[in-house]
Amino acid sequence: MAVQTSPLTWLMLFCFTLGLLVCCHGASDDRQVYIVYMGDIPKGDFSVASLHTSMLQDVVPSTAASDVLLYSYHRSFNGFAAKLTKEEAEKLRGKEGVVSVFLSQKKELHTSRSWDFMGFSKKVKRSVIESDIIVGMLDTGIWPESESFNDTGFGPIPAKWKGTCEKSSNFTCNKKVIGAKYYRANGDFSPGDFISPRDSEGHGSHTASTAAGGLVSKASLYGLAKGTVRGAVPSARIAVYKICWSDGCYDVDILAAFDDAIADGVDIISLSVGSSFPADYFDDSIAIGAFHSMKNGVLTSNSAGNSGPYPASIVNFSPWSLSVAASTIDRKFVTKVKLGNGEIYEGTSINTFDLKEKMYPFIFGGVAPNTSRGFTSEDSRYCLPGTLNETLVKGKIVFCDYYSDGDGPIEGGAVGAIYQYGGNKDYVFSYPLPLSNLNLDDGRVVFNYVNTTENPTATVFKSDVESNEFAPYVVSFSSRGPNPITADILKPDLTAPGVDILAAWSEAAHVTESEYDNRIVPYNIISGTSMSCPHATGAAAYVKSFHPTWSPAAIKSALMTTAFQMSAENNIEGEFAFGAGHINPALAAQPGLIYDAGEIDYIKFLCGQGYSPTYLQLITGNNSNCSEETNGTVWDLNYPSFALSATPGKSISRVFHRTVTNVGSAVSTYKAVVQAPPGLIIQVQPSVLSFKSLGQKQSFVVTVGAGVGNSMISGSLTWDDGLHQVRSPIVAYASLIE
Ligand SMILES: *[C@@H]1O[C@H](CO)[C@@H](O)[C@H](O)[C@H]1NC(C)=O
Ligand SMILES: *[C@@H]1O[C@H](CO)[C@@H](O)[C@H](O)[C@H]1NC(C)=O
Ligand SMILES: *[C@@H]1O[C@H](CO)[C@@H](O)[C@H](O)[C@H]1NC(C)=O
Ligand SMILES: *[C@@H]1O[C@H](CO)[C@@H](O)[C@H](O)[C@H]1NC(C)=O
Ligand SMILES: *[C@@H]1O[C@H](CO)[C@@H](O)[C@H](O)[C@H]1NC(C)=O
Ligand SMILES: *[C@@H]1O[C@H](CO)[C@@H](O)[C@H](O)[C@H]1NC(C)=O
Ligand SMILES: *[C@@H]1O[C@H](CO)[C@@H](O)[C@H](O)[C@H]1NC(C)=O
Ligand SMILES: *[C@@H]1O[C@H](CO)[C@@H](O)[C@H](O)[C@H]1NC(C)=O
Repeated sequence: MAVQTSPLTWLMLFCFTLGLLVCCHGASDDRQVYIVYMGDIPKGDFSVASLHTSMLQDVVPSTAASDVLLYSYHRSFNGFAAKLTKEEAEKLRGKEGVVSVFLSQKKELHTSRSWDFMGFSKKVKRSVIESDIIVGMLDTGIWPESESFNDTGFGPIPAKWKGTCEKSSNFTCNKKVIGAKYYRANGDFSPGDFISPRDSEGHGSHTASTAAGGLVSKASLYGLAKGTVRGAVPSARIAVYKICWSDGCYDVDILAAFDDAIADGVDIISLSVGSSFPADYFDDSIAIGAFHSMKNGVLTSNSAGNSGPYPASIVNFSPWSLSVAASTIDRKFVTKVKLGNGEIYEGTSINTFDLKEKMYPFIFGGVAPNTSRGFTSEDSRYCLPGTLNETLVKGKIVFCDYYSDGDGPIEGGAVGAIYQYGGNKDYVFSYPLPLSNLNLDDGRVVFNYVNTTENPTATVFKSDVESNEFAPYVVSFSSRGPNPITADILKPDLTAPGVDILAAWSEAAHVTESEYDNRIVPYNIISGTSMSCPHATGAAAYVKSFHPTWSPAAIKSALMTTAFQMSAENNIEGEFAFGAGHINPALAAQPGLIYDAGEIDYIKFLCGQGYSPTYLQLITGNNSNCSEETNGTVWDLNYPSFALSATPGKSISRVFHRTVTNVGSAVSTYKAVVQAPPGLIIQVQPSVLSFKSLGQKQSFVVTVGAGVGNSMISGSLTWDDGLHQVRSPIVAYASLIE
């Protein structure tokens, strides 16, 4: 079967595969793939690969040693991946130089209008060095022929680029897509997979064009969402690291891609992928990769995950990476249905099909079971595949009692389908046939019509785009905080558009994943934190194009402190849904002040979290120990947001130390503006910061007291010089951990 990735399946995967992802691959006996993580690249003149081989030789039978090694990571950090038995893995865990040993598991992949929606117009000011910025996309590959990746007008490839292009008979790079490589340690390809960096799914082309695609006018999905699609940095270059295949994305390959991307010289890494459960920082390939990218000055932008709205469902939350939630933009897709009695009802879906308002016979699935398979009305009312009687359904519009992908009606030969569904519907999907989802109130009326009318008829209209006046709000599927591992670091960091985004698609994939869908399109509309992540990646690349020397933390701070404020009215989870707010890329290039942090700051944080000094020495490649001065508290990590957790029902008080760096006006005076609801006390000392030069740093202390009861309470601190408003959210909450 060809590998196709419809929005429906991506999301179903994200939303419904919790806890299922135990996997092991490539192991013929009882060996499984393990990652042995060893920290920073060792200093000295010797072969790291032979070190890995000799470590393996110590634990595996001599005949197997060379067969079991899958990757030797040595360009940006130290470690290897190998097929090991549990006992062998245990032996390696105890060896000198080893930080962690963990099973390689499978992770899941988690726009025309979106940029204008956030005030980031085509005419926005551009940096002359935007074309030197290289965005590294770790994803399903790319469709290089897409108009979004046209390299007309591009100058030579930036001199700093050290990567490669894995060319094949029909895959080449150009001056826009400057590098491309694929990773598949187990060599286990499905028939639909291209054994090249070519994208067979659509997802990777979509994310790459959102972050850094060129301008393409009159793009649409069958006329829907028509407009100019573009990335945040249309002049920037793209480096493709294909780590995801039709069956998912494996940790071993993710780490190999990080190892290369950092050494290749990318400026930012985008990764719309995550596990389904939180792991400790150094047992998670993405957190490890992001740590070494940070150490090398490269920010990693991550999707928060699609397991919302449950608390602590966020899966990418390391303090050194950017965790991006997904929110709506100001448009929504509605799909009207019309009945034979003239009544019109408005449902939701992305319906690209035009029945030209022709009326068709209308039937309730519940009266059309395929009895030869033993199905009854109780089965067929849901219209699941195989349950419908083709003789009765063929050529008709069928009414169904639940929510599904439309394959049942299409298999029964239906012309269209109308579903009624009571679930959450703040995002929509496309289907392989004309289909609209009605709410239960309208569904009841329509059911009554089809159930009591002689010769009922109906039709489904092509979708209309309407404005969504409540936007932006964080969509239900977006994973929420609090941070499951470090309660007192607020996550997600911010939100960006991730609902119904139009962007480039693979011509080897279809519009939906349905086997009945063979429509090929250059642009498709899908939803996910997978889509919001590259918006933030692109915004970060935009900031970096003006400030090429800024650290990952500085760029992240700029994005967070300039974010549009979001309202807890539309999101009861408040900052656990949207973090600092909605990205505002145009403003992020001039944040005024930044909360900077470097490797040493994260190490202090890790010391304070009780990470063993021996491990930290390996990770940093630095001999120093956790001492009094390097033993930092979580509250003193120079983060652009503030979180404090308390035992439910207790009141709490914390002191936070912060330092800001002036990047705004050389001579400036910032006043602390505190916003605090009753129950939250915020004191800032000093409350005025005066700067005399650019790059000057000033420190201050924030004392927060709160009675949190059983929930959360939030306020903010804004440093304001009249020109810049540098805003940080402050969240106190009742936590079940710590
Ligand atoms: C790229 O864009 C140029 C200018 O619009 C156009 O002439 C050319 O045909 C495009 N190339 C491809 C491969 O589509
Ligand atoms: C590219 O070449 C491979 C191998 O020859 C082939 O399987 C694949 O279908 C080709 N893809 C495209 C898009 O032409
Ligand atoms: C399908 O419906 C037709 C018409 O009611 C009926 O004659 C036939 O037995 C049904 N077939 C099955 C398999 O249910
Ligand atoms: C009922 O299901 C059987 C088994 O799949 C199929 O062969 C048959 O065509 C179906 N009949 C109708 C009337 O849909
Ligand atoms: C009306 O709905 C009931 C309950 O599902 C069903 O038994 C009946 O056959 C339906 N009648 C028609 C005409 O669809
Ligand atoms: C090692 O750590 C110490 C103490 O944290 C720091 O002062 C020093 O700069 C670090 N050295 C290197 C090479 O990173
Ligand atoms: C760190 O601690 C170890 C063990 O206590 C000691 O051998 C080493 O010299 C210390 N390193 C530094 C830089 O203080
Ligand atoms: C670091 O600080 C914590 C809390 O104050 C303390 O429990 C721990 O022993 C300290 N560790 C070191 C290495 O000083």
